[in-house]
Amino acid sequence: MADFGRPTLTARPAAKLNLTLEIGQRGADGYHPLRSVFLRIGLADLLSISPAPTGTADRLVVTGLPGSPVEGNIVLRALALLRERAGAALPPLDIELEKRIPVAAGLGGGSSDGAAALGLAQACWGIGLAPAEVIVLAARLGSDVPFFAAGAAVALVEGRGELITALPTPAAAGLLLATLPVELSTRDVFARHDSLTTGARAAANMTDELAAALESGKGSADLGRWAERLRDANDLWLAAADLERRLPALREELEGRTGRPWLLTGSGPTLFALYPSATEAAAAGAELAQSLRAAAQGATLQATDLIGPDPTWRHS
Ligand code: C5P
Repeated sequence: MADFGRPTLTARPAAKLNLTLEIGQRGADGYHPLRSVFLRIGLADLLSISPAPTGTADRLVVTGLPGSPVEGNIVLRALALLRERAGAALPPLDIELEKRIPVAAGLGGGSSDGAAALGLAQACWGIGLAPAEVIVLAARLGSDVPFFAAGAAVALVEGRGELITALPTPAAAGLLLATLPVELSTRDVFARHDSLTTGARAAANMTDELAAALESGKGSADLGRWAERLRDANDLWLAAADLERRLPALREELEGRTGRPWLLTGSGPTLFALYPSATEAAAAGAELAQSLRAAAQGATLQATDLIGPDPTWRHS
């Protein structure tokens, strides 16, 4: 904790969901071009940064959910990039990160931490980079980081993730998330995607259609209305389901019990369903939690909305 005279700056790095995810052919740089509609949601980590005593080194303490190491943490990589960009020694920082977003779950938690660190550290050091420069640094941290750095609540994301077109914020929505207790590496899911030879691109056109509807204001009234069509609009589903064989059974159980489509976010393993409000998502979650069968054993269920600050309801 910072003492008097050493102000602490805090942020709530929020999670994201991919409403669509179209993947192109792997490029020479090893990355796949993508087209996706990203949605920021209420579930968030907590990040605080304060100046450390002169002569000390940066210090990062990570608490909360497991899986986010100190060494090599994206927050420390963000500080390193800012120092490299400034070309000067910048004073040490004390950083506390409380993980509340499941790690390597398709929810962009680490990426959001990295984007928030870019913002808070700049404020702490009195640096004000132009937004376009921040996006360049964000893209170096990871493909999902520019979306969070751009600050949009919903956006069309293209290229390697660095081309962000903000879209009008949808009306309130409730989300019920189900996360299997397993980490899926984005790298592994993309590699499996390449090795599957179906050539099927499930998400074709849905990104444009949803983005156009949101842009015109037509899609924002009720995101849930889109759920049926968005269900198969993630090109990574087959690869994620092939790597984590419990996913198809979990989806079948969740859909059977809720009577709603469940979507995969990013490279998984988190699945989510759309509800009119967080209260309704929580009620559905509570009912589900009473009767989970084998497929859903060990899964964490969380209900949230688009704003937060916390999940309305959680079961694990
Ligand atoms: O950018 P990020 O660190 O999240 O990516 C992790 C890995 O996922 C990359 O090294 C790459 O193998 C794969 N990836 C990809 N195409 C993307 C994003 C990620 O192939 N657009």
